[in-house]
Parts: sequence; C-alpha cells; structure tokens
Amino acid sequence: MTILVTGAAGFIGSNFVLNWLDKEDGDVISLDNLTYAGNLDNLSSLLKNSRHYFIKGDIGDSELIFSTLKKYNPTAIINFAAESHVDRSISAPDTFIETNILGTYKLLQNTLLYWEALTKKQKQDFRFVHISTDEVYGSLGKDASPFTEEDRYIPNSPYSASKAASDHLVRAWYQTYKLPVITTNCSNNYGSFQFPEKLIPLCIINAINNKSLPLYGDGTQIRDWLYVDDHCDAIKTALRDGVIGETYNIGGNTEKTNIQVVQLICKFLDNLKPRLDKISYEQQISFVKDRQGHDRRYAIDATKIQKELGWQPKETFESGMEKTIKWYLDHDEWIKNITSGDYKRWIDKHYL
Ligand code: NAD
Ligand code: DAU
Repeated sequence: MTILVTGAAGFIGSNFVLNWLDKEDGDVISLDNLTYAGNLDNLSSLLKNSRHYFIKGDIGDSELIFSTLKKYNPTAIINFAAESHVDRSISAPDTFIETNILGTYKLLQNTLLYWEALTKKQKQDFRFVHISTDEVYGSLGKDASPFTEEDRYIPNSPYSASKAASDHLVRAWYQTYKLPVITTNCSNNYGSFQFPEKLIPLCIINAINNKSLPLYGDGTQIRDWLYVDDHCDAIKTALRDGVIGETYNIGGNTEKTNIQVVQLICKFLDNLKPRLDKISYEQQISFVKDRQGHDRRYAIDATKIQKELGWQPKETFESGMEKTIKWYLDHDEWIKNITSGDYKRWIDKHYL
C-alpha cells in the first residue's frame, strides 16, 4: 500500500508520516510546498528511508498532483495541507482561501480524474481522507454539549470558514461523483514538531528563553486538547475502518482553559528545568490584547469514532504534556533553526 500525505512537513502531517512508517507497511509519498510552517527538519530522520519519498509541491498545482498520482499509484490520500493558524487568517486571509478552498478543490478534482481511471477493485479500495477541525462548528456556550457530527457548521474566523468550505467540497465530491472520502474533525493537538506560533510550543519556548507567556484576553477560553500521536492513530482508524462519506469527530475529552494549560506548562518546567532564581515560570505570564472574534469554547464529542470504530486516546493531558515538554527541551537545534529562520534559508537555497 502506498499513501500520499499532503502537508507532510507540517506539525500533524510529519507526526503522521513518522507514525505510519514506524507502525504500518507500504511506502509514503510526502507532498508539501514548504510554506513558513512546513519544515523538512521534521522528516530528517527519514533521509535514508527507502519507503519514503518527498515532493515539494502545491496541492493547487494540477499538473504536479495528477502526474504524482499516476506515477506512484497511491491507494489513499491523507490531506493535511492547509494554512492552519487562526491569528494569521485574521491578519492575512488570502492564502487561507487559496490553499484551504481552491487548493482542496484542485486536489479533489485531480484525485477524481485519477480515481475514475482505476480498476473496479482499486476504486473500491481507494480513500481520500480529509483532515479538518472542530472550529467549523463555531463556539460553544459554557454549558452547551460538546460538538457532535450532527451539529451545524457555524465557523467564525477566516481560518474556520475556509476549512468549513473545504469540508463542504469534500462532501460534494462524494455525493456527486462518489469519490470515496472520509472527513475527520479534530480538536486542538499538541506534541512534537508544532510550529511555535501555537499556544503550547510558544509558551514552552518563551518560558525557557525568559520571555513573557502571552494569554489573550482573560485567559479563560477553553480548548479540548489531544496528543498528536493519538490523533494520528484516530486517522489511521478512520482510513482503515471508516465508512465512506462519513465524518468522524476526534477529541481528547480534555477541556482546559488557556490559563490552566499555561500553568501546567510552568509546573512541568519548574521541575524539569527550574529558573536560576527558583521562582516559578508562572511569573512570566502576561495578559495581552484578545484575538478578534475569539471563540470562547470548543469541545468534541468523540462517541461515534469510539463506539463505531473502537478508537480511544492513549495519553492523558498530563502524560502527553510531559512527553511534549521533554521533547522541546531535548530539541534545541530544532528550536534554534525554526526560530532563526535557518531552515527556511536552507530550503530557499536548495529548492529555488
Ligand atoms: P501546519 O501549519 O503545521 O502544517 C500545514 C502544512 O501544510 C505545512 O507543512 C505547509 O507547508 C503545508 N501546506 C500549506 N499550504 C500548502 C499547499 N498549498 N500545498 C501543499 N502543502 C501546503 O498545520 P497542522 O497543525 O499540522 O494541521 C494540519 C491539518 O490538520 C490542517 O488541515 C488543519 O486544519 C488540521 N487540524 C489541525 C489541528 C491542530 O490543532 N493543529 C487540529 C485539527 C485539525
Ligand atoms: O481546534 C482545532 C484548531 O486548534 C486547529 O484547527 C487549528 O489549526 C489550530 O491552530 C488550533 O487553533 P487555536 O486557535 O485554538 O490554537 P492556538 O494555539 O492558536 O490557540 C489556542 C488558544 O490559546 C486560543 O484560545 C488562543 C489562545 N492563545 C493563543 C496564542 C498563540 C493565547 O492566549 N495566546 C497566544 O499567544
């Protein structure tokens, strides 16, 4: 089995590729156009792996996508490629529309062309798994029940609106053309290789560099956190056993306020790498201007994937956070490259 993973040099994509090559059979074609968030360092342990091929390319490049599909003949596409950061979508929405909407459209259209030319058996076996987010469901009230697959789409940010649009396109390619798609909507991930614009890696790296830990507004917004490897296992479960045309919510059943998350990071760091003055990292917390249109609460009801496909997260928030913090503390070079822009210069030199 060969799979094509798009957005493979990003946070979740790279974790997925590493997980797959470690635990599953078959080859992986990684495709990524290496935006600021795509980092080949994430895949550097695979340099000599004969089951892995990397292609620098855009999901919106029809010629490249179609020729790649024809050449490698994948039995599945796992689409992680997206612009993913809400704050960037607020200040510069253009690339979100281009990649998340138009890019997904082009990827679907070329996948359809490829799929239609397969044999009957190959057609039956093929899957297009679209990786989406819980943010498409909007923001929950304090006492509202967690999002189920039946909830209405009420996206609030340019990011979530663009992801919602992509989910609708994926659904339409199934309803209209019978392309065998599965969509997953997951809650907030954390773990290794996450670009330090996101709350958790930002706070870990800022803390040890004696910078402030910025909490938007009053810090009481709630997210439902899932360790990235649990997400990767859930995606593999959906790929293997999911029903074509269905959507699956994935979450860790771990609602935390942002301030609780940052306090936990401080608590781990106080033990693992205490400040020289022995004062808690908590004193670096600062409350800053709120995000525009900031969604107050997300929470996922993952009953469907648990009951129907038997997936359960393995990590608790504490065990996953401990692994994550230790990973960042052990990966100085990765942090140095990503924060200095070295890896970006390397890419420009080698690929342009
Ligand atoms: P990320 O920003 O770390 O990675 C995205 C990757 O996609 C990058 O490597 C980037 O270079 C690549 N990319 C962007 N535009 C591309 C294009 N046009 N063609 C090819 N590659 C392109 O994001 P992530 O956090 O790893 O998220 C991956 C997917 O999972 C996204 O679709 C996101 O919406 C979804 N998701 C993320 C989370 C989360 O908490 N991070 C939760 C639920 C769903
Ligand atoms: O819910 C899934 C989504 O989770 C994914 O679809 C997105 O791709 C991913 O980026 C993430 O979105 P969030 O906006 O929830 O993640 P972020 O890490 O940016 O922020 C988490 C919370 O922390 C959010 O309430 C905003 C807040 N925050 C964030 C940053 C960067 C702060 O308080 N301070 C910060 O500096």
